[in-house]
Parts: sequence; structure tokens; C-alpha cells
Amino acid sequence: MKLFDVYPLQDITIDKARGAWVWDTAGRKYLDMYGGHAVISIGHTHPHYVKRVTAQLKKIGFYSNSVHMPIQEELAEKLGKVSGKPDFQLFLCNSGAEANENAFKLASFATDRKKVVAFTGAFHGRTSLAVAATDNAKIVAPVNETDHIIRLPFNDTEALKQCFSKQGKEIAAVITEGIQGVGGIQVATDKFLQQIRKLCDTHGAVFIADSVQCGYGRSGRFFSHDFSGVRADIYSVAKGMGNGFPVAGILVAPHLKPWHGMLGTTFGGNPLACAAALAVLEVLENENLMENATAISKYLTDELSQFSGIREIRGQGLMIGLDMPAEMGSLRQELLSKQGVFTGEAKPNVIRLLPSLALTRQEAGVFLKKFGAAYQTIHKSILTQTGG
Ligand SMILES: Cc1ncc(COP(=O)(O)O)c(C=O)c1O
Repeated sequence: MKLFDVYPLQDITIDKARGAWVWDTAGRKYLDMYGGHAVISIGHTHPHYVKRVTAQLKKIGFYSNSVHMPIQEELAEKLGKVSGKPDFQLFLCNSGAEANENAFKLASFATDRKKVVAFTGAFHGRTSLAVAATDNAKIVAPVNETDHIIRLPFNDTEALKQCFSKQGKEIAAVITEGIQGVGGIQVATDKFLQQIRKLCDTHGAVFIADSVQCGYGRSGRFFSHDFSGVRADIYSVAKGMGNGFPVAGILVAPHLKPWHGMLGTTFGGNPLACAAALAVLEVLENENLMENATAISKYLTDELSQFSGIREIRGQGLMIGLDMPAEMGSLRQELLSKQGVFTGEAKPNVIRLLPSLALTRQEAGVFLKKFGAAYQTIHKSILTQTGG
């Protein structure tokens, strides 16, 4: 059997990783400023993480959700503490899309309504209603098309007010990322998030904070939505939660009440996933990684702002977008193939930096040096082409 060919691939095979570094099968070392797509939160193969997951595997890897699982309770307790949401309830699942699907379902059950407000530039996953809420017609299959989604312009408080004044009684939920990732590192304004909170309160709708990419400490706060001082009703989490182990969840405000059969999952919250998620939170706390993300972010953005060719630097913490002019479109490939640096991208010309939150100042310095070299190469080739 062949693999279903769904991704354009770099001709690289990674088979070893440590901290912010990965190695290919030929032994070449790369700096991972991409974090395997914002997934690596505490660093690759962190010793505490490896130890905790290995110990759990030796004890028991899986049992179904039909029995008590103290490790789930331990995770809920720890996550409540580290995230600053000790009064919330935790439902565990396996991926970001699944977390958002459960958030929609819960909001719809709670309000007995069908409409979900989602925004331009949003990405919420590839399944059912999550993909319908995602602003990319190309990945919405006919079977996913629905009139349950109301699409509004991102960061537009007036459009939001108008929509609620017309359709407030039909709206089950509003979903937004605190920082749009796939949408090109666009930060939601405080005013926008506060307006969502206000309108949801007035009209009895549920505020879903998609924190799959911007959450789990990446922004320097546990949830990037925290910067605006708002408290959402549901936070969806995944990616950094397991540092590579597939684990996700929704944090649910106390006023949303569960009933048996409302939500469910086979694999969600299995002991191995919980061990991985606990290891992440322990390291996040013990190594002060949110503070580190803030400090390294400042160093990176201060230094990067010296490059006059970068049109705009956006983001918070270690979720940074470098908006490049179209003629510098090959910079990302130059970084990878010549400088050995993985970065992410967003269309049309944004380089996304999503490294481990444990990135050191020295490693950030290595990145800046390599970035400078790649930038100079591209800059020179533009000058040559234009005869400048
Ligand atoms: C903001 C956001 N929400 C949801 C998802 C979907 O997560 P998953 O790929 O784990 O289903 C992603 C994935 O990139 C994301 O960035």
C-alpha cells in the first residue's frame, strides 16, 4: 500500500530530536523554529517527559473511560491550576478539530440553538463543523457545507454588534482564536474579545476560545485571550498540550452542565495521553516557560525589527509572524536548505516562528545569525536581478 498523498513534502527525513534541535538521517542538524507546527511546547524528548510517559507505559497504556482514572483527575487539577481556571471542567479528546467539534456540540446543547459565528482568516480544523467554521472554501467538502456558520470580519466589533442585534436569538456560540495562526499571526484586539464576551452575555451565547495553537503558554500567558482580561466559556486546547503526544481537550466553565451521553470518546484521556500532558504542565511550571517565552520573544522581535525588509512583525510570545514582501518569498526555503532552520509559513508571505517555549537566548541568537545570512543572500539576489 502507498500513503495517501496529502502533503507537499520537504525532501528530509527527521529521525532524532532534542530540545530545539532535530537531526535528519544523514546526520544534518536543524534548528526547529517551527516546533513541528506549534506542537513542541517544552522541547523535543525532554527527559522528564520521556521518563513520565515511559513509566506510565510500563504500568498501563490504556483502559476505557468506563472506570475511574485518577490520572485524569490529576491532570484536570493541574491544568486548572496552571491555566488559572481551577473552577472549570475538563473533557479530554485527541485533536484540535475534535476539541472544537465538542465545543460546538456542547454550546448547541446548552443553548438549544444552531448558529455559530466564526471570522475571516479563522482556522478551526478539518472535520464537520470545524472545517465549516474555517475560512477556506477549498477544504470544505460538499458534505461539510452548512448554513449554521455566520462568517464575520475578524476584529470588527461593529459587524459583530449588528449581527447579534439581528440574529442574537439564534446564535449558539462565537468562536475565535486569540491569535490566528494559519491566518497569518493576526492578533485579536482586546476590544474585539471584550465585545464578544459582552454580546455572548447579553444574548445567552457561548464564547469559545480556540486556543489550539495560541494557547498552552505559547503567547507568554496560558491563554492568549487572557491578555484582554476576558474569560471565555470554553477553551479548546491541543497541539502543545502533549508536546507531540496526541491529546486535546476542552475546558468548560462551571455554568455549562454535563449529562451522561452528551459527549464521549474511546481514546480521549487515556493514561498515556494524561501522563504526557502532566509532564508538559510540570515542565512548563518548573522551568518557568511562559516567562521564558515572553523574554525570548522580546529579544527576537527587537532584533528582527532591525531588518528593514520585513514589512511587519506580529504576534505575542513565541508565536511570531514575519510578514515578508513577495520578492523575498524564497527566504523560508533558503533558511531551511542553506541555514538548516525549520520555520512555518502562512499564505501569502508570512514566516511563522513557533519554536519550543524552552528556546534559550543562545539558540535565539543562533536563529538571528542564520536569519541574517539567509536574508542577505535573498536581498543580494534581488539586487542582482533588478540591476540595483
Ligand atoms: C487554531 C487551530 N484550531 C484547530 C486546529 C486543528 O487541530 P488538529 O489538527 O489537531 O485537528 C488547528 C490546527 O492547526 C489550529 O491551528
